[in-house]
Amino acid sequence: MTDILFFNGRWTTTDERVVGVEDRGFQFGDAVYEVFKFLRKRPILVVDHFRRMERGLREIEIRNPWNESGFVRTVDELLKRTAFEDGIVYVQVSRGEGERAHFYSDKMAPTALMYSRQFRFPDPGKKERGIRVITAADLRWKQCHVKSVNLLPNALAKKKAQRAGADEALLLGDGEVREGASSSFFVVRGGRLITHPLDEHILPGVVRDRVIGLAIAAKIRVDERPLRETELFQLDEAFITSTTMGVMPVAEIDGRVIGNSRRGEITTRLQQLFDDLEMSEISQAAARG
Ligand code: PDD
Repeated sequence: MTDILFFNGRWTTTDERVVGVEDRGFQFGDAVYEVFKFLRKRPILVVDHFRRMERGLREIEIRNPWNESGFVRTVDELLKRTAFEDGIVYVQVSRGEGERAHFYSDKMAPTALMYSRQFRFPDPGKKERGIRVITAADLRWKQCHVKSVNLLPNALAKKKAQRAGADEALLLGDGEVREGASSSFFVVRGGRLITHPLDEHILPGVVRDRVIGLAIAAKIRVDERPLRETELFQLDEAFITSTTMGVMPVAEIDGRVIGNSRRGEITTRLQQLFDDLEMSEISQAAARG
């Protein structure tokens, strides 16, 4: 599939082989990425994604090639050039290209790229049925709040899930449930929401943050605390959140059915509230022109 690609300040397509073999993103996983969604050519929560990327880059001392307004301008230009209305944008910034060595120069010019792709977002049937998940060991590095491209443990966990007929793997570490391999994780118990607190064990999910805000505004109590693995046996509802899935009910964990096997009441409410938030993002962006 040929897609429109922004690469280091110029426009091309994904057919062009642009990344050098000595790019540190390729050889060392020395890069940060983002994925955000667009609907009717309007980017969703783009500033939230930019700010997370900026924090990640700062943490590992890669120079951010964009400021906020420059980033939004590049995104707008990309979507103008894109032939379809809905999809995702993938962004990556690596430390740059240079003779392979563990030591790196402080003066490297970062490699910056961004492209749009079509994506099949979950349909209403799937959003109601939910997904199956399995549990797997969290084998990731100790700075999971940085959205680095080192996704091998995530990819292996996803493959394990797929082989088990599931869509997602919940990552377990030190007897605690951290998050999904590519999603944040929430449970509902006694009318309260529980999700892992923001620390180095999880990615600060953009959707996670918004869903917490929506829950608080709807007077649903939110406990940001680690969930013990054993608590997975004592839930009323569970769901994951991510850019591509939105709020997605979890119907089964390791083959055990959650709740009364139907999408839970609080999950349904938050799913609706988050879908509405996305729609209001579109109309606000449309009003800005
Ligand atoms: N994944 N946790 C992990 C480990 C993730 O990779 C993701 C997102 C999330 C959810 O974050 P957000 O709400 O900002 O999408 C949580 C993206 C979609 C991906 O890697 O494709």
